[in-house]
Amino acid sequence: MLSAPSILASDFSRLGEQIQMITQAGADWIHLDVMDGLFVPNITFGAPVIKAVKPYSDLPFDVHLMIQNPKRYIEDFCKAGADIISFHVEAEEDVTGTIEKIVACGAKPALAVKPNTSVETVFPYLDKLYMVLVMTVEPGFGGQKYMADMMPKVGQLKQKAPHLLVQVDGGIGVDTIASSAKAGVDICVAGTSVFRASCPKQMIADLKKAAKDV
Ligand code: DX5
Ligand code: ZN
Repeated sequence: MLSAPSILASDFSRLGEQIQMITQAGADWIHLDVMDGLFVPNITFGAPVIKAVKPYSDLPFDVHLMIQNPKRYIEDFCKAGADIISFHVEAEEDVTGTIEKIVACGAKPALAVKPNTSVETVFPYLDKLYMVLVMTVEPGFGGQKYMADMMPKVGQLKQKAPHLLVQVDGGIGVDTIASSAKAGVDICVAGTSVFRASCPKQMIADLKKAAKDV
């Protein structure tokens, strides 16, 4: 399983170095959580910060937009260096237009679903998507408890579109990753477990091993 550490749990006072460190520690993608204080009750950072840290890693930048009406900002995030852009189906009226904008800007489009949103809401767009992000916590904060009961969504997606990538985000650690791996998840986002580990490199290796051993 690919590993996409979320820098939300990193030390923001030295974000560039943290991204460099996680790149050398075996991460596959860098997950960047953008929050606007409207779609979720928390504010993080925007395109200028992503642009500033982009030179610190050659890995794909996986930008998770937790913002209302994301279509307005797609160009900004692409220019800042986003390679994959996930936006929430709950946050945008013009889902098709937003997907098209992401593709036109040269990035890969993904749709995200909150825990209380049925996965059927993304079905109309599956053939246009690179990935679906199934939230395994309520978006907004790191360090929450993994919701194993989201795994039927992964199963439904894999049945409907076997080649589509499925990502999970929230509460992933060595004790929870097996449940995602069993369901067929391709990429896991892990913030707290990786950045708060005494050795992030070992933690990434342990997560990959735990996912492989199922
Ligand atoms: C939550 C974010 C996650 C978060 C995961 O809204 O989308 O990416 O950083 O953090 P952990 O791994 O701590 O649950
Ligand atoms: Zn995220």
